[in-house]
Amino acid sequence: MAYSEKVIDHYENPRNVGAFEDKDDSHIGTGMVGAPACGDVMKLQLKVSDEGVIEDARFKTYGCGSAIASSSLVTEWVKGKSLDEAQELKNTDIAEELALPPVKIHCSILAEDAIKAAIADYKKKNA
Ligand code: FES
Ligand code: FES
Repeated sequence: MAYSEKVIDHYENPRNVGAFEDKDDSHIGTGMVGAPACGDVMKLQLKVSDEGVIEDARFKTYGCGSAIASSSLVTEWVKGKSLDEAQELKNTDIAEELALPPVKIHCSILAEDAIKAAIADYKKKNA
């Protein structure tokens, strides 16, 4: 199976890899999700301003190239978005942007789920 150029670019130069080290993590939402289809794991963090805008994002993904590219891409996409806007992000947009083949669609679903889990974690903390 051939990876698209965009997948290879994100895989070789992943954006925003890592985790936030802040002592006070009340402004950070963390989502950790796994893909039942293959056992891969994705951890995604959002740093949110008092105004509810996503200022920064980090990810760590143990998985295939498509999963790494999907998480790298969404960390770029969510920056500057409100939580409501980020909530609207669809795995189909990710799959389209990265030209993922059908067998790799679940990798993009993992990224959508990770964003939603991180938003939910932030909202729970700041309820
Ligand atoms: Fe899990 Fe792709 S099957 S790495
Ligand atoms: Fe399972 Fe990509 S996340 S193959």
